[in-house]
Amino acid sequence: MTTAAPEPTAPREISTVGVIGLGTMGAGIAEVFARNGFTVIGVDQDDEGVARGRQHLEHSTSRAVARGKLSEDDAAALLGRISLSTSLADLAPAQFVVEAVVESLEVKKSIFAALDTIVSPETILATNTSSLSVTELSTANSGPGRVVGIHFFNPAPVQNLVEIVRTVVTEPDVLERAKALVEQVGKNPVVCGDKAGFIANTLLFGYLNHAVSFFEAKYASREDIDAAMRFGCGYPMGPLALLDLIGLDTAYEILDTMYKQGRERLHAPAPILKQMVTAGMLGRKTGKGFYTYEGPDSSKVVPDDRTPSADSAPQLHHDIRKVGVVGTGTMASGIVEVFARSGYDVTYVGRSQAKVDGVRATIERSLDKAIQRGKLEESVKEQVLGRLSGTTALDDLAEVDIVVEAIAEDLAVKTTLFENLDEICKDGAILATTTSSLPIIAMAKVTSRPQDVIGMHFFNPAAIMKLVEVVSTVATDDQVAETTRALCDKVGKVAVSCGDRAGFIVNALLFPYLNDAVRMLEAHYATADDIDTAMKQGCALPMGPFELLDVVGNDVSLAIQRELYLEFREPGFAPAPLLEHLVTAGYLGRKTKRGFRDYSAR
Ligand code: CAA
Ligand code: NAD
Repeated sequence: MTTAAPEPTAPREISTVGVIGLGTMGAGIAEVFARNGFTVIGVDQDDEGVARGRQHLEHSTSRAVARGKLSEDDAAALLGRISLSTSLADLAPAQFVVEAVVESLEVKKSIFAALDTIVSPETILATNTSSLSVTELSTANSGPGRVVGIHFFNPAPVQNLVEIVRTVVTEPDVLERAKALVEQVGKNPVVCGDKAGFIANTLLFGYLNHAVSFFEAKYASREDIDAAMRFGCGYPMGPLALLDLIGLDTAYEILDTMYKQGRERLHAPAPILKQMVTAGMLGRKTGKGFYTYEGPDSSKVVPDDRTPSADSAPQLHHDIRKVGVVGTGTMASGIVEVFARSGYDVTYVGRSQAKVDGVRATIERSLDKAIQRGKLEESVKEQVLGRLSGTTALDDLAEVDIVVEAIAEDLAVKTTLFENLDEICKDGAILATTTSSLPIIAMAKVTSRPQDVIGMHFFNPAAIMKLVEVVSTVATDDQVAETTRALCDKVGKVAVSCGDRAGFIVNALLFPYLNDAVRMLEAHYATADDIDTAMKQGCALPMGPFELLDVVGNDVSLAIQRELYLEFREPGFAPAPLLEHLVTAGYLGRKTKRGFRDYSAR
């Protein structure tokens, strides 16, 4: 990196970009521009800030070199295009300036005011704010029309989305040039209006804050909350690890701003966030947040006093050899397959011989598919099928060590089954339910052994999805819960523990976020396509909210959202009217060929 600022160039041609603030975001943004051939002038407030920025840039480029993504020469050229300084005055030659300092209105306004006398009147001034009013920031400058938001996502070199925030006074030409520049550096711009949180953060931060409140209330451990979202939804990282990446100070400010603008209680920062920020636990950047890292700015998690010790791995307190499954639907077939493939003898019960035969046929198809894809040895197929015994008689479950029921999601039907299982199953057998929404304690209560009743919430398709939520009621015995978790380990699943309340972990965190997306669409703030793109390209989620809603089914989503609303009485959980209307219209998603999108022609 050089220290001399480059010469001024023609005013309208953007070749020199200024970046103010070289922290988590600023350093990444500087890298993105320099990688794409721009001359970059980076400014931080003091030598320490500059040193941190330099270290960030060197670390990121040397990692790219180590991974063979960048040659040594290109890395040197990239760094050579960046000059670093502690003086805003060095930004004079920049034709485009991106401000990425702390999320503080005062600090940002002072910078926009100072730039007035430093850069040319033609220079476009952009802010990377996550939530503050771009309009208000623009008023600090004598040319508010040249101010625009360009909101990169973390890590900036990785995430493809950039939200371009237009204020009511942003000049159309400025907007177009900002968009073109973002495209020039290989990112995908989505234009949106100036509302706290824009598209992605409005949807993301309610979910993140909710996860923090789970952690704060000790509803589940940090590892289990994060594992639930990674393995249940395929998210690249769990919410608490993500907050550590974002920075807890930044997250607090974003939530606080969103709350002040919208007065949505769910955006009021969870109290523990403030405490952690005050204690300097800002996440990766200080080496400690929800997790502990090898050092400041490291992504490597190291054990701390919350890390479960190796000898706390769950143990089987009951000998489990024979497994019973009740039901013949999608979930039941998948669960039978999971146990049989892991070597357990499985007795499964259906209401008719045809249904029983159907399960065997479904499993055979699934095994054939696995063989075709080279994931299973041909010889294993017969062994797996040999472990299955289908029956129409519940009495055949007398000798099993655990029963997993996956029958209709109807409390009366399930409680009748539990009464029967209580009479049939041997003493000490675990009685598990896969319910996604019914109170498990209501099933436990009709038995003479509520201590042996537990939830095992598998995800669809059960043979593939790794997660099982192991749900203890107030009456579940700890050893039964531990045995169930150990059994999950044995069949290759990731077990997370949680309590018997609506939505467990995953649905309680996922569905309010999906519902918020419907509200955003209903408010015409953004289109379904832009919202889906924002969440996929900004946060690396495997599916956008509307894609997912159409796969899950709007009727199912509405039912879950209603359950959450009824249980928690949280006004923000009230189902979005648009979701209700789509269900009333029969637009249930892919299964009816119309939901948020029309699939009839596909
Ligand atoms: N800087 C530069 N590059 C990085 C990086 C960083 N900090 N972290 C990871 N990468 C690169 C790696 O070099 C690697 O690149 P190649 O494939 O070219 O080699 C790639 O990203 C994948 O990295 P890893 O293999 O180390 O790790 P991973 O696969 O676990 O991915 C992750 C890490 C990119 C962070 C991924 O987990 C992810 O996308 N998580 C979601 C992050 C997210 O949601 N961001 C949005 C936050 S909200 C926001 O930004 C808005 C706001 O206002 C707060
Ligand atoms: P950070 O705390 O990692 O870095 C902020 C940097 O700004 C520090 O290096 C600090 O020294 C510097 N700084 C503070 N005051 C300054 C001043 N007056 N002049 C020059 N430099 C100054 O913060 P961050 O996470 O990089 O956030 C920066 C901006 O980007 C914020 O507006 C934030 O909301 C936004 N943002 C953050 C993320 C994220 O995930 N962290 C994502 C998108 C946008």
